[in-house]
Amino acid sequence: MSSLIRFVAVLVLGLAVLAYGALWLVTQRLREWEEGDAQLRAELAVNSSRRAVVKRWESGNFAALSDILRDITRDERIRAIGACSTDGRLLAKTTDWPASLPCSGEALNPGGRVHVSAVPLDGEAAPLGTLVLIQDLTFLERREHAIRDFLLIAFGIFAAAASLVTVVAARLSWRGWSNQLRKLLLRGGAQPGQFQPLMRDVRELVEKLATEKEDLEGRGTWTPQRLKQTLERHLEGERVVIVANREPYIHQRGADGHITVKHPASGLVTALEPVMRACGGTWVAHGSGNADRETVDAKGRVRVPPGEESYAVRRVWLSAEEEAGYYYGFSNEGLWPLCHVAHARPTFRIDDWRHYQAINQRFADAVVEEVDVEDPIVLIQDYHFALAPKLIRERLPRATLITFWHIPWPNGERFGICPWATQLLEGLLGSSIVGFHTQQHCNNFIDAVDRLLEARIDRDQRVVVHHQRSTAVRAYPISIDWPNRWAKEAPSVAECRRSVFAELGLPANAQLGVGVDRLDYTKGIEERLLAVERLFERFPQYRGRFTFAQLAAPSRTAIERYSRLNDNVEALAARINQRFAEGRWKPIALLRAHHEPPDVFRYYRAADVTYVSSLHDGMNLVAKEYVAARDDERGVLVLSSFTGAARELTEALMVNPYDLEQASSALATALTMPEAEQVDRMRSMRALVAEYNVYRWAGRMLVDAARHRARERLSGRLTDRLLGLERTA
Ligand code: F6P
Repeated sequence: MSSLIRFVAVLVLGLAVLAYGALWLVTQRLREWEEGDAQLRAELAVNSSRRAVVKRWESGNFAALSDILRDITRDERIRAIGACSTDGRLLAKTTDWPASLPCSGEALNPGGRVHVSAVPLDGEAAPLGTLVLIQDLTFLERREHAIRDFLLIAFGIFAAAASLVTVVAARLSWRGWSNQLRKLLLRGGAQPGQFQPLMRDVRELVEKLATEKEDLEGRGTWTPQRLKQTLERHLEGERVVIVANREPYIHQRGADGHITVKHPASGLVTALEPVMRACGGTWVAHGSGNADRETVDAKGRVRVPPGEESYAVRRVWLSAEEEAGYYYGFSNEGLWPLCHVAHARPTFRIDDWRHYQAINQRFADAVVEEVDVEDPIVLIQDYHFALAPKLIRERLPRATLITFWHIPWPNGERFGICPWATQLLEGLLGSSIVGFHTQQHCNNFIDAVDRLLEARIDRDQRVVVHHQRSTAVRAYPISIDWPNRWAKEAPSVAECRRSVFAELGLPANAQLGVGVDRLDYTKGIEERLLAVERLFERFPQYRGRFTFAQLAAPSRTAIERYSRLNDNVEALAARINQRFAEGRWKPIALLRAHHEPPDVFRYYRAADVTYVSSLHDGMNLVAKEYVAARDDERGVLVLSSFTGAARELTEALMVNPYDLEQASSALATALTMPEAEQVDRMRSMRALVAEYNVYRWAGRMLVDAARHRARERLSGRLTDRLLGLERTA
């Protein structure tokens, strides 16, 4: 017995040494990468404002220079910046610049987990000096802890498994045990062999983590090709299945009897469609077009996009009553107002809830029919499918399920007013990962779980453990494709301006404001028109010169709150027009219709200013589309600070849409903004959207999915192996 204990002790000790060796190696590599990344980040941050910085520096306006430096520090990792002259004087700095830190070389180590980078700046004639950026690297510690915990757990599992095998073997008689050992050895398995897979599995995993890191943070922009390669590399090119209520292509038979294909006005479709074109796979959606049934095969499938056919849409059929209960009722009269702070009261009806349950089950069944492996990757989209993750998990326990919630998540107290709040949370916790646009929404979700469920919450790792299953909660800010397909296909800016002005009957010297939305009360369309009215009141010089065109796609019109909004917006536009119209000029052009993307982009490119005034919005992709449309680097974005996009597009003119004084001032500022400033702001926003595009969004989620699956497979293999060994023994 004592030799058995000695054996187990040596085994555990050996594994511990191995674990610490692997941990040391991984930590070293991580640090090397981060050093490189920090320098690159510093250069990128300076490049985005280089022109403005040089201008202020050369003119000696160091107060303005400090303001620009402060803007650069909005990047959450850049803690402080100082501008050092060539002779070592500190000319400008941000408030967090350490008081004791001069510009001399030996002092450039302010202590703590930081990285200090120096980026030289040249003026017209001579070098100006150096921008010194101090970056916060405390996040590194969290990463290192995560990897350390993971490695220790993996080695812990192996140590436990190996010890258990040893103890089981000891229970056999010495003779039986040695016979057994001999047999195993002859088959090439047994104890020595048992360590081979251990090392191989861990090595595989570490390599995987390393290549995933390269994939995520390697240099260069994310493209459809890179997303595809990521899929091939990490998921062996496996097909992705998406579940989303709205389909990307709607077949509609018009009054003339012809079938046309429509692109719905939907942020979700805008983001996911390019991803599916790049990855292939199946999009499971409600077949909502009046000619949808005529265009599918016997299994309800149709290949899209028309003419390209790179992926499949699997249509799920709903009766009018089911649609009324699940989509209009529970999803859009219950969850939608529950999740948006827009002063609409949620309505919860038991019949709607029953339909919602039934339709979630129907979509879950459709997913099971569409997959061809027992551990597929399924991306579940939005508030229409809070129950689906748990239902799919019951049928496919080894699936990797990523649920992305496209709208805000309210605080725990507010969420608790839903009579079925716990069922919704339990449904979502069937997911491997639940994603939101912002960290704030992740925090709100975790608070709701804390308040309403018996679950263990690890706030550091952002993981919820419920009924022995763990779900990671992560922020993935969504975006658009870049280079943008519709922007690429659009006519020149001059041509767009000519055609839009002709449509609206505007003279060539007029100025144009644009709004693009579904007619939804969360978009702040009434507040937007009131801000335009206030502009004309406060700045009469714009009367006769400025027109605001609102493209408004009718949406969810079967719901009373939406049809009321429709009437209100129409009445408001008519009142403002009546009040200010002069001759043929009208201040507001309300274009209440569905507009296909080429038209929307024509308006973006013709606009002097685009105003996004959402009262509350998960992200808002109109803001990003406008930026993508302006390859001429002109035009101004006025953006509600209550959108997720406001956290990224910091060079927009940020407003509180309820504050009509502020919003009208922002419109006036936009209309008088010098071209050079428009270029500076637009260029910087374009650089951000180009880098943080939708391929990166999808890539990050899919790499997380691959990582999750690698872990599941590893622990699955271990369990299988252990059970196999026990059986053999
Ligand atoms: O952007 C939020 C969102 O709910 C999307 O998730 C959805 O696709 C879009 O609004 C349009 O709504 P609907 O699909 O109900 O027309």
